[in-house]
Amino acid sequence: MSEVKFGEMKENVVTRKAFTLSKARETLKDEVIAVLGYGVQGPAQALNLKDSGFNVIVGQREGSASWDKAMVDGWEPGVNLFSLEKACEKGTFLCYLLSDAGQIAVWPTVKKYLTKGKTLCFSHGFAVTYRQQTGMVLPDHVDVVLVAPKGSGRSVRKLFLQNKGINASYAVEQDVSGNAQQKALAYGVGVGSGYLFETTFKKEVYSDLTGERGVLMGALAGIIEAQYEVLRENGHSPSEAFNETVEELTQSLVPLVAENGMDWMYSNCSTTAQRGALDWLPRFKKATVPVFKSLYKSVASGEEAARVIMENSAPDYKKRLDKELQAMGEREVWQVGRAVRKLRPET
Ligand SMILES: NC(=O)c1ccc[n+]([C@@H]2O[C@H](COP(=O)([O-])OP(=O)(O)OC[C@H]3O[C@@H](n4cnc5c(N)ncnc54)[C@H](OP(=O)(O)O)[C@@H]3O)[C@@H](O)[C@H]2O)c1
Repeated sequence: MSEVKFGEMKENVVTRKAFTLSKARETLKDEVIAVLGYGVQGPAQALNLKDSGFNVIVGQREGSASWDKAMVDGWEPGVNLFSLEKACEKGTFLCYLLSDAGQIAVWPTVKKYLTKGKTLCFSHGFAVTYRQQTGMVLPDHVDVVLVAPKGSGRSVRKLFLQNKGINASYAVEQDVSGNAQQKALAYGVGVGSGYLFETTFKKEVYSDLTGERGVLMGALAGIIEAQYEVLRENGHSPSEAFNETVEELTQSLVPLVAENGMDWMYSNCSTTAQRGALDWLPRFKKATVPVFKSLYKSVASGEEAARVIMENSAPDYKKRLDKELQAMGEREVWQVGRAVRKLRPET
């Protein structure tokens, strides 16, 4: 553990320098890690663990596109690719990476194989925090931990291959072995996390649902579409409206924020831009604080969870989501995006 100052607050974090890969391998040397689910997070975590030298198998329901994808990625049926049930039986460290709604459906099978000495690992606090709605009551004789990479599975794999990493949170819900925290940290290092910070299942899911509905996705697309439409209503061309709203954001400014912070990005823009942005920042903040407060309330009350469980448990949930995403892609701003991307100079 290293103590790091974040502003005025001190936090203990775990770096890969402090918790090395060889220590991680040693910690999990007797475990068969079963990654259950080969959707978005599953492939990234399973492949990273395999490349890091862990004993890992994949559990995936047969006959679906995810099963085929696992085979394309080199997992062999009967060797290290199994049905969900078989993987639950063979695995000792079960990492539950089905969709949050899928986890509810398959829980009776997983629970059956959670015998004494096994570990159950999640990448989201959803199932456990909203247990009254998910019905997932944990058996009290197993370790239950969480390792949640703070990024899409695509980035978890991509950055691992670049020898970088996505930061992840970790938590221990049940520690029967007395070694649950070490196991969680070892798993986190194995999947190639950047640094690991401590959380609880509840804090993880509250912050995660708020983040994705807010700044990371919902608010991001919402304010982009709002600004684009106002520019268009005022006679600006699609190209101009898109460049001033999205292309400059993603290609120029956000990378600067990632590199050295918001104030540094501001300081590298014109003084005209700085003056105006500093004036308008508090107005946007004031306008959106009530929205964020009501979002957090909806997360904490379980309203968001109930909606996700109901919607994403429907047999045609994927089709319905895809239809809404297609409608998004057809809105002018995102169509213009496709055209603008094609015009980017070849690298
Ligand atoms: N997406 C991310 O990058 C990300 C980031 C951080 C944490 N997480 C967490 O990681 C976990 C996995 O997320 P994900 O995005 O990878 O999930 P996902 O892509 O939505 O999950 C799809 C997986 O769940 C299986 N599945 C869904 N319903 C099922 C059912 N009824 N029976 C059996 N299998 C079913 C799918 O199999 P089929 O293909 O056969 O339907 C597939 O293997 C979640 O807890 C999520 O919150 C995800």
